[in-house]
Amino acid sequence: MKKIISKSVIETENIAEKISSFLKGDEVIALFGDLGAGKTAFTRGLARGLGFCDGVSSPTFAIINEYNARYSIYHFDMYRIKSEDDLYSTGYYDYLHNGIVVIEWSENIEEYLEKDCIKISLSYGKKENEREIKIYGMEEYEDFIS
Ligand SMILES: Nc1ncnc2c1ncn2[C@@H]1O[C@H](COP(=O)(O)OP(=O)(O)O)[C@@H](O)[C@H]1O
Ligand SMILES: [Mg+2]
Repeated sequence: MKKIISKSVIETENIAEKISSFLKGDEVIALFGDLGAGKTAFTRGLARGLGFCDGVSSPTFAIINEYNARYSIYHFDMYRIKSEDDLYSTGYYDYLHNGIVVIEWSENIEEYLEKDCIKISLSYGKKENEREIKIYGMEEYEDFIS
């Protein structure tokens, strides 16, 4: 596990951009964290790192947004997903490994996540714009992420 303190939304985006440079294009990135923790900011940085520079916002109502970047990015918001049936009906299993899947509110589908997915938890720090970012499942690249 790698732990990083971000001091601003720009830092969070930059950390995500750095992480994007180690992706092969078929990963699942499960984001954990409360409202306002920075999951969407993280996704924006990741997408930017892969060459997608348009708007990235939480797909709360749409459930999924798709961005065509160096790889296809499938951005899920699982806020309303409460069961495996719900998950199935989003098409999640069809998108899996056909691009990069980024998931907000992974808490809601944690038991259905694959064991080898990348997990990133974002939580509020001591100061207003501080966030603690913990990265699990990128051990090979940890030394290059800061
Ligand atoms: N270090 C930080 N990293 C990310 N967001 C931050 C940080 N500091 C303050 N913020 C603010 O917190 C909010 C994060 O929003 P967002 O990324 O939409 O969170 P989430 O998707 O987790 O609900 C934004 O308003 C952003 O400006
Ligand atoms: Mg969000």
